[in-house]
Amino acid sequence: MLVEKNVPLQPFNTFHIVAKAHALVRIASEQDLLAVLADPRLSALPKFVLGGGSNIVLTGDVKPLVLKVEIPGKRLLQDSGRHFIVEAGAGESWHDFVAWTLEQGYPGLENMAMIPGTVGASPVQNVGAYGVELQDRFDSLDAMDLQSGEIFTLNAAQCAFGYRDSVFKHASRSDGHQALGLKDRVLILRVRFALPKVWKPVLGYADIEKKMAADGVSSPDAQQIFDWICAIRRAKLPDPAVIGNAGSFFKNPTVSPEQCADIILRDPKVVHYLLADGSVKLAAGWLIDSCGWRGKSVGQAGVYEKQALVLVNRGSGSDGLGATGGEVMTLARAIQTSVYERFGLMLEPEPVVL
Ligand code: EPU
Repeated sequence: MLVEKNVPLQPFNTFHIVAKAHALVRIASEQDLLAVLADPRLSALPKFVLGGGSNIVLTGDVKPLVLKVEIPGKRLLQDSGRHFIVEAGAGESWHDFVAWTLEQGYPGLENMAMIPGTVGASPVQNVGAYGVELQDRFDSLDAMDLQSGEIFTLNAAQCAFGYRDSVFKHASRSDGHQALGLKDRVLILRVRFALPKVWKPVLGYADIEKKMAADGVSSPDAQQIFDWICAIRRAKLPDPAVIGNAGSFFKNPTVSPEQCADIILRDPKVVHYLLADGSVKLAAGWLIDSCGWRGKSVGQAGVYEKQALVLVNRGSGSDGLGATGGEVMTLARAIQTSVYERFGLMLEPEPVVL
């Protein structure tokens, strides 16, 4: 096992923020992780599990031991019953995995094309886009307990998925009740997806309907939807390889119908969607945009011109003189304050701030 010291993390976070890991170990297999846990010096250290680095803001060097997940593998596990059960190693690129499932003839993930990051990080966030969330296609996952080295399997209910949320984002309770959170306690090794054999397209999003009308296609196949989603995302979201970013920086807030009515009084144009449970989801991008933030900057951290929900690193490049995590967070807090002052709502950041 190789413990790398003072490792530059700029290539390993999609914001391209300059920071170092004091120590980093690459985890390409269960054995690699067991070796870390068997080492008395390393096992005692606090640990940080790094996937594709597409949902983190680094505000300084990372002191916990960084476990960089590189576990490979993609395979069909089962094709009996109503689903194809497909498994991928946690270190696989999410987008490449989605493309592979389509090539193999297992549709169902196409609406989530081009989401940056790894397969192992996808359940943590319960990633989602264009009407499909990971939990809609999830079967189970295997994870290793970072204390005991024990491997266990979780089903969807045990993952407690919510909107951009799961059991992996919450700390365990220290009040003697049954531990509910797995934050910082496990490393996800493999994820299995249940992809329906009788496939139905998930359409209905305005951006997809526009593509259907423009291309004159009324019953698209999964590959067509995949191609449209790639084109839609390329048109409105910055490519992290070119402009550093971590996708949507804030969650879309959910409010009661009364709160929504109050916000409509403040601005009748507010973009909102009624949810099945009677609550209302507001478009955070619109709230930020209407406070005038689109295109603005703090230092080298900026609000993306085409989508105000995305914060970007304007200086990301080979010179290493990009935004600091501090600049990103100063900008994020200024946005939170102005949205709060205008609409009475505190936006909740999506990425993990380190
Ligand atoms: N809008 C504005 N101004 C802006 C940005 C958005 O007025 O600057 C308006 C849009 O016109 C639209 C509405 O806000 O009416 C919603 O915008 P969009 O369709 O771009 O979706 P979103 O709610 O901002 C969410 C997800 C994205 C996902 C898209 C499509 C969250 C936090 N974000 O964005 O996910 O790709 O829907 O399903 O739920 C991510 O999580 O990183 C992510 C990119």
